Amino acid sequence: ISVSGQHRTAYHFQPPKNWINDPNGPMYYKGIYHLFYQYNPKGSVWGNIVWAHSVSKDLINWRSLEHALYPSKPFDKFGCWSGSATIVPGKGPVILYTGVVDDKQTQVQCYAIPEDLNDPLLQKWVKPDKFNPILVANKGVNGSAFRDPTTAWLSKDGHWKILVGSRKNLTGIAYLYRSKDFMNWVQAKHPIHSKGATGMWECPDFYPVLLRGNAGLETSEEGNHVKYVFKNSLDITRFDYYTVGTYFKDKDRYVPDNTSEDGWGGLRYDYGNFYASKSFFDPSKNRRILWGWANESDTKEDDVRKGWAGIQAIPRTVWLDSTGRQLVQWPVEELNNLRGKEVNMNSQKLQMGDYVEVKGITAAQADVEVTFSFASLDKAETYDPKWVNAQDLCALKGSKLQGGVGPFGLLTLASQNFEEFTPVFFRIFKGPDKHVVLLCSDARSSSLKSSMYKPSFAGFVDVDLATKRKLSLRSLIDHSVVESFGEGGKTNILSRVYPQLAVANQAQLFVFNNGTEPISVENLKAWSMNPADIK
Ligand code: FRU
Repeated sequence: ISVSGQHRTAYHFQPPKNWINDPNGPMYYKGIYHLFYQYNPKGSVWGNIVWAHSVSKDLINWRSLEHALYPSKPFDKFGCWSGSATIVPGKGPVILYTGVVDDKQTQVQCYAIPEDLNDPLLQKWVKPDKFNPILVANKGVNGSAFRDPTTAWLSKDGHWKILVGSRKNLTGIAYLYRSKDFMNWVQAKHPIHSKGATGMWECPDFYPVLLRGNAGLETSEEGNHVKYVFKNSLDITRFDYYTVGTYFKDKDRYVPDNTSEDGWGGLRYDYGNFYASKSFFDPSKNRRILWGWANESDTKEDDVRKGWAGIQAIPRTVWLDSTGRQLVQWPVEELNNLRGKEVNMNSQKLQMGDYVEVKGITAAQADVEVTFSFASLDKAETYDPKWVNAQDLCALKGSKLQGGVGPFGLLTLASQNFEEFTPVFFRIFKGPDKHVVLLCSDARSSSLKSSMYKPSFAGFVDVDLATKRKLSLRSLIDHSVVESFGEGGKTNILSRVYPQLAVANQAQLFVFNNGTEPISVENLKAWSMNPADIK
């Protein structure tokens, strides 16, 4: 296998060839999970977009079916772009998606329904001419920035509601539409939410979360036990931002909490390659699941050479953290069924400069869970309040620059002589009133190849170290993916990396510490991962 063949994933969702982007219309229906996604049947760059369709019983192993939606009508002649599914009581699943009607990329919203509701695979979809397109941009709405309808929710007054992403100049907007019959939709006087200087809001997502507990909620659930999450994908930076807030139903307005910064400095689902995500409620396990697209960091030319581009991140269960300030995400439990050979490390001390290899597993195709502890925070470096940008701070400090408490963490996809390595690590600073924890997934040293995107992705971790002297980390390593979950899924980073040497059985995994404070690997479990069955 060529080196680029070695970069294909073994357990992250990926079709055999060609370009993919956003996950679309995920749902659970009659015992089957459905994943649709943006796909170019003709090549490995973006274009000719259809909805490809795969089905699964466990969210990990997949069978592909015929394309569910492809350009076939005047209202989607130039593409079937992103959208969502809603299971409408008494009617069954309805897909809402964006149709592109001309070469100026004029966008309208369309609907599609299954040909046969008794087919659990939902293999054939029809786009009835009656009512389609269900929405065209009203006067005052930018028709070439009008897309990605959400899953609908039903309010107590009997109205269905959806959001459509847009912008007016540089103001990002989510328009709200109401309908009594799911077919005739009327634009509300006010958008549900908007924000200046954020640009186009792609793929908005809006859903309730439980105030306490990690069970998921059906999208229409409401009440005092519930808070709301509003997410949009900002095409200027290509990250998914969210806030936690209140939904005022009488006015159909969403207001972020004051603990949730709204805009560029705000919370992200993931601080790495993770975009255009979408969540859905899984009634079979009472959880909300989040899918995100992990685009390539490779160049376009390399995508063409490889013949493929884009994967989906591992689906994540998502819930509100007990602080109420942020979400927590964790790979769906079904992933654990792929775990094969296991190795352990316990109470391993790491002095400054120590690198200890985790031996005995397939380090390029692995799942690692580790808890690090330290006796004291006295040696933590002083935090400079100017360091507001985590990614810049990670670039400034790196994994090799000696620190006080940290850098410590995992060294993934390391080549034999450390020509290549992708470190995922913590670094702790002493802030003015509390400790500041940085999680970094630094791709700068990931590959000897120079012509590609190798960012020092990073995010801060909202954890209180006043009484606790521990931090946990999980990394899913899959050839060209290092997908990491910091502190139980509070801060997450997916990096796409393309080592030239650290491939297949040449790749190694280490734990390391480059801080003066000794670190203990309290407990580490690592597994070789079996490949998922994706056909
Ligand atoms: C996000 C996006 C969506 C659009 C789709 C087109 O990645 O640009 O806004 O519907 O991709 O493929």
